Amino acid sequence: MRKIVIAGNWKMYKTQSEALEFLKGFTSCLTETPEEREVILCVPFTALTLLSKNMHGGRVMLGAQNVHWEESGAYTGEISGPMLTEIGVRYAIVGHSERRQYFGETDETVNMRLRAAQQHGLIPILCVGESLRQREEGEAESHIAFQLATDLIGVDQQKLAIAYEPIWAIGTGRTCESTDANRIIGLIRSKLNNPDVPILYGGSVKPDNIDDIMAQPEIDGVLVGGASLEPASFARIVNYK
Ligand code: PGA
Repeated sequence: MRKIVIAGNWKMYKTQSEALEFLKGFTSCLTETPEEREVILCVPFTALTLLSKNMHGGRVMLGAQNVHWEESGAYTGEISGPMLTEIGVRYAIVGHSERRQYFGETDETVNMRLRAAQQHGLIPILCVGESLRQREEGEAESHIAFQLATDLIGVDQQKLAIAYEPIWAIGTGRTCESTDANRIIGLIRSKLNNPDVPILYGGSVKPDNIDDIMAQPEIDGVLVGGASLEPASFARIVNYK
């Protein structure tokens, strides 16, 4: 059985007091959320520490937005698996396009991060997806196939989630057609050796398109940026019909 995973990615938003305020509003909206939906918040490191102390075993799980491949060392600005698991973090986004684009993340470092995350008991959410130019030139499928082939070397597919995030749809308000996202996610699944890996869609997911996206048979969940910052809007997404 494939898991349903609804993950918020706060990126570099929210101070600790804003994060607490969010949590208050959000948890009260989850009383009717079906048990089998995994709800995850991937928040800045400062908010992770705070939320882990304030969630009291509730149904929201915590995710980091990155994780380093070493346990410790001289890597200024990075965070390691043991630092995350010690505070109860369960997931880590790896290879988000913003990391690849602005911070020089490569398929090789993505691969190292994925394997390290798993070694430390974190479930990585690997992000893949094509740029607008690649889509327009008909290279989306081959680009994603290349990313998967490189990123997943030596990665245990029993402890993994993947997010298909077309770069041109992130933060632009321009969503990929749900049928097209469904097609690409089916393609991603065909390249895996475990058919039960949850594969999410990400890119301008909003309360008004979530029902349509989740109605697609291949799509197991969503990775949500902007619309996860506000309790009512993220709750509407989590409680999709
Ligand atoms: P968005 O971001 O929902 O704001 O488009 C998605 C993401 O970057 O994961």
